[in-house]
Amino acid sequence: MVSRWKLFTYRLDAMIDTRPKVLLTKMLPQAGIDSLKKRVELEIYHDEKLISKKEIIERMQDKNGLICLLGDPIDAEVISAGKKLKIIANYAVGYNNIDIKEATRRKIAVTNTPGVLTETTADLTFSLILSVARKIVEADTFVREGKFIGWEPMLFLGSDVHHKTLGIIGLGRIGRAVANRARGFGMRIIYFEPERLPEEVERECGAEYQGLDNVLKESDIITVHVPLTESTHHLIAQKEFSLMKKGAYVINVSRGPVVDEKALVEALRDKKIAGCALDVFEREPKIEQELLDLPNTVLVPHIGSASVETRTRMAVMVAENIIAVLIHGCKPPNLVNPEIYQ
Ligand code: GLV
Ligand code: GLV
Repeated sequence: MVSRWKLFTYRLDAMIDTRPKVLLTKMLPQAGIDSLKKRVELEIYHDEKLISKKEIIERMQDKNGLICLLGDPIDAEVISAGKKLKIIANYAVGYNNIDIKEATRRKIAVTNTPGVLTETTADLTFSLILSVARKIVEADTFVREGKFIGWEPMLFLGSDVHHKTLGIIGLGRIGRAVANRARGFGMRIIYFEPERLPEEVERECGAEYQGLDNVLKESDIITVHVPLTESTHHLIAQKEFSLMKKGAYVINVSRGPVVDEKALVEALRDKKIAGCALDVFEREPKIEQELLDLPNTVLVPHIGSASVETRTRMAVMVAENIIAVLIHGCKPPNLVNPEIYQ
């Protein structure tokens, strides 16, 4: 039994909790929560729906730290509501949802979760490549609908993946992990980056540098792994689809707006490309009705990093970043705006 005295001091502690205050916009895997709760006063938004911008603003006034999701819009208005804010820790590798300029101007650290999700996202990429090329989702639906009445020579003929040409747009960490998998399938790998990568990287990945147009023209499967920035917005649009090989497949696990979805729908409808597999959408979580109606699209709800192991590592990483800044007053391990310390 808890003694009255203990209960009293406990309540007193709670009243005079001087630990830094942190808002978390959605429950994370327990390992991250446990380590945060030991060091900071954590407010978790528990509603079933996702937090709105207005609700973040209302809760920002007294917070020293914010842990947010890739769909939370952390714009100048939200940032300026956090008068005491010292760190914004994004639970994602991509941070296009945060106004980095504004955070930097206010000397607020912004952190992400790079590295830990690379292989997991590459696994998903490969499963999407195989699913769309081999019509796995359509075939599964067919079986469930009771339509399988016997083996047939022409049933669900897809396209081979092995020994085809894979075009990787953005040979960063995830792009390279995809290349490693593609080598096991005996694929020819070509890539585009704004600047050619060092030869040893190319050799390690077995990837050959090409201009963007050539990657589009020569690839049987095109997969996109770039961050969303002003220069990558609609990187793949009407002109790019027109350059693609007839019957190519397009995979996007990066950010929706990198691909012009209207142009994508047109390319699918005109049978310019044979199919697409998407983990991300231009107006996420809204999905174009045409994409839902077409049979040759594989659509998954932004699950690139969604494995128990990886989401747990990401939660621990977010906690480490918060603790570095708010408890130890030092540079967080995954800082994306180092300028604030200069
Ligand atoms: C997922 O899309 C991420 O950026 O971590
Ligand atoms: C993310 O890990 C990347 O590819 O840069």
